[in-house]
Amino acid sequence: MAEEPDFFKPHPNPPPRVKNSFFDVVPDAFSSKSLEFTGDQKKKKEPEAEPETAEEEPEMKEEEPVPVEEIIAPQQYVVIEAKPWDRGDESAQSRLFIKGGKIVNDDQSYDGDIYIEDGIIKQIGNNLVIPGGARTIDARGKLVIPGGIDTHTHMQLPFMGTQAADDFYSGTKAALAGGTTMIMDFVLDQKGVSLLDAYDKWRSWADEKVCCDYALHVGVTWWSEQVANDMEVLCNDRGVNSFKMFLAYKDVFMLSDSELYQSFLKCKQLGALAMVHAENGSLIEEKSREMLQMGITGPEGHVMCRPEEVEAEAAQRAITIANQADSPLYIVHVMSKSSADVISAARRKGNIVFGEPIAASLGTDGTHCFNKCWRHSAGHVMGPPLRPDPTTPDYLMDLLANNDLQVTGTDNCTFNADQKALGKDDFRRIPNGVNGVEDRMSIIWEKGVHSGKMDPCRFVAVTSTTAAKIFNMYPKKGRIAIGSDADIVIWDPDQTRTISAKTHHQAVDFNIFEGMVCHGVPLYVMMNGHVVLDEGQLKVTQGLGRFVPTSCNSEFVFGRVKERERARRPVKVERDPYTGPVIEVMENALSLKPVDANPIIPDVNSAEFYNRPKTRGGGRNLQDSSFSFSGAQIDDKSPRRPATRVAAPPGGASTKLW
Ligand code: URP
Ligand code: ZN
Ligand code: ZN
Repeated sequence: MAEEPDFFKPHPNPPPRVKNSFFDVVPDAFSSKSLEFTGDQKKKKEPEAEPETAEEEPEMKEEEPVPVEEIIAPQQYVVIEAKPWDRGDESAQSRLFIKGGKIVNDDQSYDGDIYIEDGIIKQIGNNLVIPGGARTIDARGKLVIPGGIDTHTHMQLPFMGTQAADDFYSGTKAALAGGTTMIMDFVLDQKGVSLLDAYDKWRSWADEKVCCDYALHVGVTWWSEQVANDMEVLCNDRGVNSFKMFLAYKDVFMLSDSELYQSFLKCKQLGALAMVHAENGSLIEEKSREMLQMGITGPEGHVMCRPEEVEAEAAQRAITIANQADSPLYIVHVMSKSSADVISAARRKGNIVFGEPIAASLGTDGTHCFNKCWRHSAGHVMGPPLRPDPTTPDYLMDLLANNDLQVTGTDNCTFNADQKALGKDDFRRIPNGVNGVEDRMSIIWEKGVHSGKMDPCRFVAVTSTTAAKIFNMYPKKGRIAIGSDADIVIWDPDQTRTISAKTHHQAVDFNIFEGMVCHGVPLYVMMNGHVVLDEGQLKVTQGLGRFVPTSCNSEFVFGRVKERERARRPVKVERDPYTGPVIEVMENALSLKPVDANPIIPDVNSAEFYNRPKTRGGGRNLQDSSFSFSGAQIDDKSPRRPATRVAAPPGGASTKLW
């Protein structure tokens, strides 16, 4: 049978995508481009240097130079790699006046104008008095909403022998085109790599390329005292407030239940949010081997070896372990009805657990993995898989609309056809991941709002505000309010667009939403007051986005943890000591050593019974004793055999008269 895939073994012929090695680190990268970091954490400087222009982009596909200007149909976006902010005329350019729109926050919507200066919302209201020189944007008849926050991306992730096709440049450019003004990416490195080194690596990759703001979650792919210490440093000094643990990817990222418990305890102690990838990695390994033995090597094998209950079991286990650690829990990429039900039921029992469906699970389904075209089906392979039950997206959307699920990401982790082809003969080698960062907002509008399941306020909650609250960035992000960052989208609920890989801004050559017509189109997108989507022109600047440090102890997540912990603390029963007789400990009593795991049935393979070598046929040597001090019998573990009735015993049946 085929050899097991090694997720981190470099592919023998890697695509010529990256110039630097995966492990190059720009020292001190994190200190140069961060937003102000308040609280007990280090202050970071605003960027001094001019952002790099597209011409200076260091990493690009050879065959595809950076477009200076490209025309994209059917949205007719003209992509312009904008020059860095014009400092000479900064104040005039940075003054924006959004007039006549309906402002939508998660809790209310109202007609109002917005005045923005230097990337911050300065005034909201009607009949505002604003300084001269401001540019006016007409938003009449349109919605004015907080920019989307994608809670889950993997830009340029080295994974399964290759590297994600969308990097921090193309991925964030696409995000902005779709109305997402901030992404949260995952630092995800191999077992044994220091979390701090991994973090530095991601910062060095992202800082020079991001067109929009970003924050980082950090993957805990192994467990040790050093990892726990690094988590502390990441929280205190590096602006990280969330860690992802895996119940899947056995021997690669997977932690044991005890390690999960320890990592959840650490998160709780730090006021950081524990996130989990919930799938049973051991079962997946067994079932995928069986699948291959049956001759199923295509993408459908990926789906069939990890059915819904494999996701739901892991979700329930993670919830149980987190509950025992008094740790809030965030379940990423909720893909199935069963898993969503588990989360919803736990919330109703009072558990602090959040569920994140993604654009893929809300917008399409796993029937595509059974498509006759290999590329089409492999293009839909991700973990946990898209579910073959076609009612799944609707079901998840209903739960999202009603707060059984809370927040949306994309798990954007894209691979081109030639990369997916690594698994052409063995589904276990198909790089896992799909697109979504550009289309999430439109998909959720179409399937959530246009379908009548949620109102625009709920749309804002699930695409932006709740993420900002959970990850402690609210109301700087996720709200249109005075003092908030001017991350704003002017949204046309009536216009439609057709999603296609031919017209999207992502680097990947495939789109899982191909051909879908969506109501809800961003007309203008403002990121920190920069108009990056402007009357059909996408004007992005590489490196213009900033790292957004996130601080621990989000009130939204931890608000009731302390009291909950106090209320549930185990209480000792005060009683008089036992003063009666106590028996002597028996020498050979197997179950009585306090540190033992209390074996009830003695081990019949132990030397207690077997003092002599086995027979050549592997049977018990009949000279072995079957006597034991513990009272165990040598056949205690043998299955009971039913009585055998012998019809004609030697000497004749005893029932006959003689
Ligand atoms: O298929 C997926 N989800 N790829 C990215 C890695 C992960 O588990 O999130
Ligand atoms: Zn995952
Ligand atoms: Zn992911």
